[in-house]
Amino acid sequence: MSLIYPNTKQDKKKSTDAEFMKYAKIEMVKAPQTVLLLGSGGRECAMAAAIAESKLLKKLYIAPGNAGTAAYGTNVPDLNPAKHEAVSQFIATHGVTLLVCGPEAPLVDGLVDYLQEDARHPDLLIVGPDKAGAHLEGSKEYSKEFMRRHSIPTASYETFGPQDIEEAEEFLDQLSAPFVLKADGLAAGKGVLICQDREEAEQGLGQLFSGLYGSRGQRIVIEEFLEGIECSVFVATDGTDYCVLPVAKDYKRVGDGDTGPNTGGMGAVSPVPFADETFMQRVEERIIRPTLEGLQEEGIQYVGFLFIGLMNVAGDPYVIEYNCRLGDPETEVVLPRIESDFLELLIAMATGQVARYDLKVSPEVAMTLVLVSKGYPGHYDKGFPIQLPDPAEGIRIYHSGTATSEDGHLVTNGGRVLAITARGTTIQEAQEVCYRTATQILYEGKNYRHDIGNDLL
Ligand code: AMP
Ligand code: GLY
Repeated sequence: MSLIYPNTKQDKKKSTDAEFMKYAKIEMVKAPQTVLLLGSGGRECAMAAAIAESKLLKKLYIAPGNAGTAAYGTNVPDLNPAKHEAVSQFIATHGVTLLVCGPEAPLVDGLVDYLQEDARHPDLLIVGPDKAGAHLEGSKEYSKEFMRRHSIPTASYETFGPQDIEEAEEFLDQLSAPFVLKADGLAAGKGVLICQDREEAEQGLGQLFSGLYGSRGQRIVIEEFLEGIECSVFVATDGTDYCVLPVAKDYKRVGDGDTGPNTGGMGAVSPVPFADETFMQRVEERIIRPTLEGLQEEGIQYVGFLFIGLMNVAGDPYVIEYNCRLGDPETEVVLPRIESDFLELLIAMATGQVARYDLKVSPEVAMTLVLVSKGYPGHYDKGFPIQLPDPAEGIRIYHSGTATSEDGHLVTNGGRVLAITARGTTIQEAQEVCYRTATQILYEGKNYRHDIGNDLL
């Protein structure tokens, strides 16, 4: 049907592509690549592992990388992804043909725009949105307004500047507790306050405006609290066509039973049983398509991963946030379930050929358990030697905050240290392997949650 009567721009593009391919039998462009992967976390370790498995890989650089990524390619510890000129120069001098950026900050800062304008590498393939696309993550106010413009379901909200404190309080009067307050800019996961009562909300307003979580004088978003269960959806797009990667659930709080402060993520599971076909159909119709069409209408050519943080409210999806990259630790469960060539997907994204990519996903369950440093997400010490067990079949130990000390030992180097991923036919099977492996990994101050996946059993 959609071949004859395309409903949307994407249907139209898909159908013309499909027809074109049928008659012209055009093959996807698949040339061997010299890849530069930016980042240094568990997400980048999982990405490096997946890229290293590709038959299309000529050479992989990871900048700066960590002790784990060195197993999959060449680390470039002195190359800082925040330094656009240094990245561009490295690309030129090392014959890099494809750049993929793991974290959000360089994208929000306009690294892609810088590289696109650089005459030294006109043919560079880039996976990651430009500054305009990354603004969906870079500004909560912008992303909420984008959703309002395109009728994408999200919590109702208003935005305020530091001079609007009275209006902000009046808006709080219209809402009921708990209150959700968000700093506008990037705040490394610390810019969201969920306030249980009005007094806490008033305090939170003061803290956000005073710059305690982000920059002083920034704008803030106050929004309705959504009651439900969260999941993370990753869309790989070339700006026109897209494919939806396996859905994952992240565990953000540091303590068992979702207690304690928010972290970058303490574990993840994929698939997510409640994200069934009906739910995902709603996600595609109400969220993914309107988002990609909205970007196109606004003249934004979004090439990269779009991470949609969703709340399932009684079966209906609402957007909690957009991120312009893959999630961490979700990537550590999403990529091990992808059986098709991941580098080929990156090439397809950067060359407008996603419609031709055949995504193959394993039906198995994957779980990742993040081992952290004592004290995380608050203060923690680094530099403790790590002892790893001999890798057993089917277990992946991705490095997150690790380094190699001067005397050649593997040591802790961050709050999140390692992510253990196991696959199984059930969540219990994957849990059993992860938790057994966690006891075999030794370092001072090892800490982890004991209930990852329990809520999905
Ligand atoms: P964000 O940085 O926007 O993803 O928010 C961080 C976390 O705060 C989310 O993962 C949710 O757990 C929670 N959160 C954010 N917005 C809301 C909301 N409107 N209702 C309920 N929880 C929320
Ligand atoms: N795990 C959530 C994130 O990557 O933002």
